[in-house]
Amino acid sequence: MDRPNDSVVSEFVLLGFSSSWETALFLMLIFSLLYIGIILGNLFILFLVILDSHLHSPMYFFLANLSLIDVGLSSTIVPKIITDLPNKYKIISFKSCMTQMCFIHIMGGVEMVLLIAMAFDRCTAICKPLHYSNIMNPKICISFVITGWVGGVNHAMSQFAFIINLPFCGPNKVDSFYCDFPRIIKLSCTDGTKFEFIVAANSGFMTMGTFFLLILSYIFILVTVWKCSSGDLSKAFVTLSAHITVVVLFFTPCMFLYVWPFPKSSVDKYMFIVDFVITPILNPSIYTLRNKDIKVAIKRLNKEGHYVRFC
Ligand SMILES: *[C@@H]1O[C@H](CO)[C@@H](O)[C@H](O)[C@H]1NC(C)=O
Repeated sequence: MDRPNDSVVSEFVLLGFSSSWETALFLMLIFSLLYIGIILGNLFILFLVILDSHLHSPMYFFLANLSLIDVGLSSTIVPKIITDLPNKYKIISFKSCMTQMCFIHIMGGVEMVLLIAMAFDRCTAICKPLHYSNIMNPKICISFVITGWVGGVNHAMSQFAFIINLPFCGPNKVDSFYCDFPRIIKLSCTDGTKFEFIVAANSGFMTMGTFFLLILSYIFILVTVWKCSSGDLSKAFVTLSAHITVVVLFFTPCMFLYVWPFPKSSVDKYMFIVDFVITPILNPSIYTLRNKDIKVAIKRLNKEGHYVRFC
């Protein structure tokens, strides 16, 4: 990495959770359990979708992709939080900090496009059931996923390109437990206002745009379900409200960090735990637990398991 000569900061200190030794131990336990839950839950979905040919539909391909992203997103943050908790000084090297920021934004970008793809998929299934398989053809599905990755990499790199050239000459204390663009820009020893604006415009525009698109498509789905079906609405409403809850949970911290024009409070550093720990664990449960296809697939997996074991 080529960095200007006046950059003397070679590592950052994450202030993270300041806590007593007992609290740190307790938090380590909680975060470890949640992280194991994230890994197991999401890998389970990934394998179920890959192994069961009955689940080879657009919705489940997106879901499997989402699980992969959730594992990636929480893996960039949570293991570092856990290993940092017992340390008094939570150090992260300049390179790791930059890498962490890029990964968060790449994965975050893919996650947003996948959420849009899933909402679009549900919209099509509910509003245009006869044309569903025509519209959601494999080409469209793959383009959604590719768009997600290209968009995510673009989004992360366009911000990284500004940050990497900023001089950092201290202080190097980050009031958070991971690195992210808005907080790191604040530590640069030039006037970062212009760059703060660029980050706010880039990340902020992306989060707001995606959020409103998702909310609009869910309103559209709700209205359609409400107008067309005469039967039992409660199940559709429960499922949809679960999805909407996850969307609101995921986007609230993002909007606070990137769009909120006022000084960063230390509250939003805790809010981001939702994005790295809570939504990755909620996604698999919300999209699958109430879902008949998945239940049937798990039963089938069980049967095949017995078959293998007994033969
Ligand atoms: C992700 O989605 C694409 C396009 O639908 C699909 O081809 C791919 O297999 C999915 N990946 C996983 C891990 O399911």
